[in-house]
Amino acid sequence: MAAGTDGPDTSGDRHGTTAVVGPGGDGALVIIPTYNERENLPKILERLRAALDSVAVLVVDDGSPDGTGEVADEIAAADDLVHVLHRSEKNGLGTAYVEGFEWGLSRGYRVLVEMDADGSHRPEQLHRLLDRVNQGYDLVIGSRYVPGGALVNWPIQRELLSKGANTYARLALGAPIHDITAGYRAYRREVLEKLDLDSIESHGYVFQIDLAWRTVQEGFAVAEVPITFVEREIGESKMSGSVMGEAFTKVARWGLQRRVEQVRSALRRRQG
Ligand code: GDD
Ligand code: MN
Repeated sequence: MAAGTDGPDTSGDRHGTTAVVGPGGDGALVIIPTYNERENLPKILERLRAALDSVAVLVVDDGSPDGTGEVADEIAAADDLVHVLHRSEKNGLGTAYVEGFEWGLSRGYRVLVEMDADGSHRPEQLHRLLDRVNQGYDLVIGSRYVPGGALVNWPIQRELLSKGANTYARLALGAPIHDITAGYRAYRREVLEKLDLDSIESHGYVFQIDLAWRTVQEGFAVAEVPITFVEREIGESKMSGSVMGEAFTKVARWGLQRRVEQVRSALRRRQG
């Protein structure tokens, strides 16, 4: 089995033991999508810099009406390791990450990290993800739902929604991941090069399930490390009914495709 929290390191021999990311985070690009995060962005960047002094950052801002893009530009002007990608309008988390990945891959980064701007993904825990990548895993997910993981200040309805979505996705897809909707992740570049990012249609948060599912299907080694997810104190979530609807219908479709594929291969085995 490719995924696990403390199972055997299935990919160790595939990649060897050479570290891909340096101790200060060099070689990694942290991609932070933003929409109206003006007050949060400077805080998260400061914490990130304090935690890992040589990690690079790409802010992908969707023309935030509150001026987050300008705040990002100011910070980038003073820090060579911070970059900004401006998009003209709000176009969803998924497409922001795809553009961010392409930006990072074309510049040679070895590991691409996803992180929210609102402080929910603690920069102080990023080393947990990067250490696992250095141990040979291809995708490392910062998980709320493995032993040691935690949720702080999340309203109960949001917790139930998230746990329900994870259970639903696990049943439909059979993916051995406890937190498949998680947005705190580190991908080795080889995964993203393989995955044909242009074919991804997921706009909203279902993008996270989509990418994890494709990664598992390609046979890459996935690990989960526990994180503490802290609900934002400033600003609001961009989760919406349409974001949820997209997740529900797409997961149902992928699950159905998987079942059809299972039946087909069973028939082939019986005939052959
Ligand atoms: N550029 C851009 N465009 N950024 C966006 C967009 C968009 O359309 N929508 C959201 N973001 C940014 C936010 O500004 C924030 O930095 C990050 O994406 C996460 O958005 P939140 O609105 O704070 O997400 P959440 O707290 O409700 O959801 C978290 O949990 C989900 C599932 O449990 C996130 O970590 C999700 O990634 C995760 O799937
Ligand atoms: Mn959030």
